Amino acid sequence: MAETESRKRSRDSVSNTLIVAFSLSLVCSLLVAGAAVLLKPKQLQNEAEYRQNIILDVAGLAKPGIDPVIAFASIDARMVELSTGNYVDSPAVEGFDPDAAAIDPELGVRITAESDIASIRRRARFAPVYLVRSGDAIEQIILPVYGSGLWSTMYGYLALEADGNTIRGLRFYSHAETPGLGDQVDKPAWRERWRGKRLFDADGDLKVEVIRGAVAEAPAGVVDDSTYQVDGLAGATLTGRGVTNLIRYWVGPQGFGPYLEKIREKAEQTS
Ligand SMILES: Cc1cc2nc3c(=O)[nH]c(=O)nc-3n(C[C@H](O)[C@H](O)[C@H](O)COP(=O)(O)O)c2cc1C
Repeated sequence: MAETESRKRSRDSVSNTLIVAFSLSLVCSLLVAGAAVLLKPKQLQNEAEYRQNIILDVAGLAKPGIDPVIAFASIDARMVELSTGNYVDSPAVEGFDPDAAAIDPELGVRITAESDIASIRRRARFAPVYLVRSGDAIEQIILPVYGSGLWSTMYGYLALEADGNTIRGLRFYSHAETPGLGDQVDKPAWRERWRGKRLFDADGDLKVEVIRGAVAEAPAGVVDDSTYQVDGLAGATLTGRGVTNLIRYWVGPQGFGPYLEKIREKAEQTS
């Protein structure tokens, strides 16, 4: 009887309890780590597919009944060296991670404080562009854009018409702005406001802007300030300012500016 009592006491001892707790946490953490490693490729694939769907959507190519994989296959993805605006074969578009490239000493560059209007500190020297083509002719150019909103880095795609100036669409796929305030960037009605707006005026000055309040739209065919302006987001002026700044950064001289200049020159030659 006394022996059973003592065996029970030794089973309930502090050291036994610690061994059980440690073994249990070890097994559980191995299971969680194993699941994370196993699921990582699937997670990356899902993220890539999600971004592909956003690219199709911003280009107006996401249609019911059309397989997104087939629709995306018709888009020509190319890598651009931002400083020259030239296409390059390396790094490859597939698997390119702009955040990882930005902090890589070989692939990334630091952005000077005065140029850093998107508040991103560093960027990759290369960036992908997605071309919607009709035969040899480019119909749309889709650019990845990102920068700081009020609370978060906002990641999205900007689709431009073949002139490299007229906006076809803007859509964000990742941000953490406040629901009901900054997240109005996701509202279809606001996204629709970007269609037909222009980035640059006739002198090549970068004019695109999210203003405060509603744009006083000019009559069709008339070019005035409203050509470059998009309605503000009620109660979310700072997110709207972030959107202006990130677009201006990415279409400006530090971003896709040299590339877009080539596109515009080509469009002028063929028109
Ligand atoms: C809890 C909370 C969340 C907010 N979230 C946002 C936001 O996501 N984007 C934004 O621009 N302003 C946000 N604001 C408001 C800003 O602090 C600021 O007042 C606003 O951007 C000014 O814009 P307005 O002049 O349009 O009111 C938030 C304010 C509070 C109190």
